[in-house]
Amino acid sequence: MSEPRDPSAEPERRWREDFPFTSAGEEQVTRRDFTRYLAAASGAFAAGSAGVAVFASVKPTEVASTQAIIAVRDIPASGSYLFRYPTPADPAILIRLPDGELRAYSQKCTHLGCVVYWDESTRDILCPCHNGSFEGRTGNPIAGPPDRPLSKIAIEKRDGVIWALGESE
Ligand code: FES
Repeated sequence: MSEPRDPSAEPERRWREDFPFTSAGEEQVTRRDFTRYLAAASGAFAAGSAGVAVFASVKPTEVASTQAIIAVRDIPASGSYLFRYPTPADPAILIRLPDGELRAYSQKCTHLGCVVYWDESTRDILCPCHNGSFEGRTGNPIAGPPDRPLSKIAIEKRDGVIWALGESE
């Protein structure tokens, strides 16, 4: 005949059957599991970082779409024309330099993104937010906090019309 069971010992007995580890073993298992968790988390983080790097590397630096901007005769000497390129949400500026050369840039200042404008009197592209200034012919920064040139838009004259061909960093 078997001994009567102590009902208060039943939960502990079940616990021991489900988790048959001694206190010393529990510590080792915890370390092993923690190490596995760390390895899995590190692997997932590395894979995510690699994915972001691949995505960033395939991001196109040039937009291939072409778009008619304006007829050449409609741009006054030393004047400018505002348009949107490459999307309707991207303000851009076309300027005619005093020697007749044309340049097109994104209107987004490379400092903090304010909209720049052509100043006919100084023949520079100015940013009103922090008194930034860019050289009209090159788009290079010449004053204020911007340290990168404006994003250029390649343009071409075709049958008296100026076309945007693509944007480059
Ligand atoms: S945003 Fe243009 S100078 Fe600061």
